[in-house]
Parts: sequence; structure tokens; C-alpha cells
Amino acid sequence: MQFSEAVTERYSCRAFLPDVVPQAKLEELFALAGKAPSNCNVQPWHTHVVSGAACDAMRAKMAEAIAANPEGNPDFAWSGKFAGAYQERQICAALGLWEKQGVDRKDRAKRDWSWMRNFQFFDAPHAAFIFLPTGFAEELRIAGDVGMYCQTLMLALTDAGLASCPQTSLSFFPEVVREACGVDDSFKLLMGLSFGYPDLSDPANEFRTDRAPLSDTTVFHQ
Ligand SMILES: Cc1cc2nc3c(=O)[nH]c(=O)nc-3n(C[C@H](O)[C@H](O)[C@H](O)COP(=O)(O)O)c2cc1C
Repeated sequence: MQFSEAVTERYSCRAFLPDVVPQAKLEELFALAGKAPSNCNVQPWHTHVVSGAACDAMRAKMAEAIAANPEGNPDFAWSGKFAGAYQERQICAALGLWEKQGVDRKDRAKRDWSWMRNFQFFDAPHAAFIFLPTGFAEELRIAGDVGMYCQTLMLALTDAGLASCPQTSLSFFPEVVREACGVDDSFKLLMGLSFGYPDLSDPANEFRTDRAPLSDTTVFHQ
């Protein structure tokens, strides 16, 4: 795949097939992700990948956690509230997905169903949980490094014929993930990523977002 194809073809996948990716392939792809740049080459990402039975066990724990506490208890605050142009883009993305999922905006139960798909990892056979050492937790610039790592990972997955969904929602229950993965609280959970082979028969995967015109985001000076 050409680089521009991988960038263009990556999308947030919200329905996966059960097929597991071979371990050797996973190691190759996560090693590629680690080629991402970082401030002073500190490589602050600490990733735990759950696959197969471990993924199913985590899915079950997430279901219990969200049922007991719908607000979650993330290590990093998250309001999900945006204003102005950012809110417009947020609404547009939500409405577009709901349309493909057959969710009416006014139907609270269906909206909840759509939200809960997050905690089922959209049926993916793999999920990655990405932590930062506590010492970096207040460093905005270090979170930027993790973003670069995640995008490199998602492009590597796309190039390998796989798909992924980056998820803040998967950081809502850090204590559950820490316990299941044997991580101590010197690591803070920034985000999760469901991934695997996409279920192309699911209409949720037909949804594509658009982007603001270049002139809204980028100024060239000469
Ligand atoms: C850090 C991050 C967190 C996200 N969290 C979620 C999430 O919890 N649930 C979800 O369905 N999508 C989530 N997304 C996916 C975004 O909604 C998606 O990237 C955006 O709408 C653009 O669409 P695209 O990824 O298909 O290009 C997240 C994306 C990023 C980068």
C-alpha cells in the first residue's frame, strides 16, 4: 500500500470479525508503531495488548464496570463537551455514525446501545491499552508523543489489511485494566484501541468522516 493510500483508507472501524491476528504479525506491527518520534526520544508509550481469551475477559470486566458506574473514573479528565466549530464537527460525526447504525437521535435506548458498543470493543478480538508513566501524566507534550505512536500504529494496521478504532472510552476504567494486565498505579491509562479484521458487512463501517478545508486549519507564510 502506498503511504497516501494507508492514510486515506484508515478510518475508525466499529465492527470487527472474530478472527485473531497471528502473534508474530502483532509483534511486527507494534514494533513498527514504536518507530514514531517522541520528545528527546523518550518513547513514553507503555502498551498492553489483550487478544483472544484475554480480550474476552477484559470485555466482560468492562461490561461490569460500565454497568456499575456509567461515568467511569478515568486517569485523565474527559468532559466530551466542545463549542463552536468543534462542536459542529462532533455532532456531524455522531449523526453520521448513528445514521449508519440505524440510531435515531431522539431514541435514548439506541444511542445508549451505540455508546455501549465501545465497551464491547466493537466485537474486536484484540484491544490495546496505552499508558503513560505517572511522571509524564501532566505533560501535554508527552501525550502528543503517544498520539504519534497511535497514528503510526493505526497506519501500520491499515497497511496490513487490518482496522482499528482509537478510543478514549476505553480509558474510563483504568483500575480494571491495570488489575487485569498487572500494571501498577505508576502508569496512567490514556486511551485504548480496538483492532482486528473489519466486518465489512456491518453498515457502521460504511461511515466516513470528512475534514475541514485546509484553509480552516493551516496557514502558509512565504
Ligand atoms: C484519541 C481518540 C479517541 C477517540 N475515542 C473514541 C471513542 O471512545 N469511541 C469512538 O467510537 N470513537 C473514538 N474516536 C474516533 C473518532 O471519533 C474519529 O477518529 C473521528 O470521528 C474521525 O473519524 P475517522 O477516524 O474515521 O477518520 C477517537 C479518536 C481519537 C483520535
